[in-house]
Amino acid sequence: MMIIQRVVLNSRPGKNGVPVAENFRLEQSTISDTIQDGQVCVRTLYLSVDPYMRCRMNEDTGSDYLLPWQLSEVADGGGIGVVEESKHNSFAKGDFVTSFNWPWQTMAILDGGLLQKLVPQLVDGRLSFFLGAAGITGLTALLGIKEKGHVSAGANQTMVVSGAAGACGSLAGQIGRLEGCTRVVGIAGTDEKCSILISEMGFDAAINYKKGHVAEQLRELCPGGVDVYFDNVGGDISDTVISQMNQNSHIVLCGQISQYNKDVPYPPPLPPEVEKIQKERNITRERFLVLNYMDKQEASILQLCQWIKEGKLKVRETVVEGLENIGVL
Ligand SMILES: NC(=O)c1ccc[n+]([C@@H]2O[C@H](COP(=O)([O-])OP(=O)(O)OC[C@H]3O[C@@H](n4cnc5c(N)ncnc54)[C@H](OP(=O)(O)O)[C@@H]3O)[C@@H](O)[C@H]2O)c1
Repeated sequence: MMIIQRVVLNSRPGKNGVPVAENFRLEQSTISDTIQDGQVCVRTLYLSVDPYMRCRMNEDTGSDYLLPWQLSEVADGGGIGVVEESKHNSFAKGDFVTSFNWPWQTMAILDGGLLQKLVPQLVDGRLSFFLGAAGITGLTALLGIKEKGHVSAGANQTMVVSGAAGACGSLAGQIGRLEGCTRVVGIAGTDEKCSILISEMGFDAAINYKKGHVAEQLRELCPGGVDVYFDNVGGDISDTVISQMNQNSHIVLCGQISQYNKDVPYPPPLPPEVEKIQKERNITRERFLVLNYMDKQEASILQLCQWIKEGKLKVRETVVEGLENIGVL
């Protein structure tokens, strides 16, 4: 037996509770030192901590495609690691691999069928990008815009992005521009985030929603109204943006993070006065789930990697070292 460290769900925050680090527990465990045919022994390098995991902390996730984490059992999510030993034809020692269901533990024995091989050259060796800009996050931004944004070059469109300094949002604004939007405005929670969006990520303007009047600033910064709204947050911010959207405009309903600590259905219904605006102005607000577009994964990842290499897509990451610190994220 080999001794490993792992992180298990210690307690649930409750459907209306705010998660805390104590909801997780680091503990020692063991894995076998022999593997069976079809299995691969991996050492974990990177784990992704994402907003959807809040739903997995509930006994009932509210979604049929998300399984709840079980108390005292290891948590899992997007991860990357290196193969230490393989009894699966597709993998050899030293390969870098990824999975959507990577257990939060230092070493693991996984079924090779759950793994995908990574090509580090695609991201100049910056492996963690495969969990972000060159992974599900990048795919969400790119495919969200392509499938639901109706962006077309030459149409003089204004895009607004909420949660703009987050992983998806910062890419969505840049991709909106690359796809042809003429004006891109972000909404984020600090002045520092706003200034990075403008100076580094090429946004035309950014609004700090924790300061000042969002509706007024939006009117000033989007004088022609909003044509595409990439919505990561929902709630009051989205109500304000939707109220300033144009006739026949489009919402990319990416996520509603401001509602995840509340026991509400997904997507949460709009308040009646905002729903009235949405209907009268024929604003589309269709549910978007990146997992429904995995047939476009390969080509889209190549596109994202190319933009990253060309410096057209700027990437920032938050990386914390040590499995024992994962709960603070
Ligand atoms: N549809 C899909 O298939 C799909 C796939 C992946 C992700 N998503 C969704 O995409 C969204 C963003 O995910 P991500 O990976 O980019 O997460 P992230 O990097 O954690 O960014 C989320 C951002 O949201 C902001 N935020 C948090 N609470 C907020 C609140 N109450 N009001 C307003 N802003 C708030 C935070 O920034 P501030 O400091 O600016 O508040 C944070 O930067 C989430 O809603 C997620 O569920 C959807």
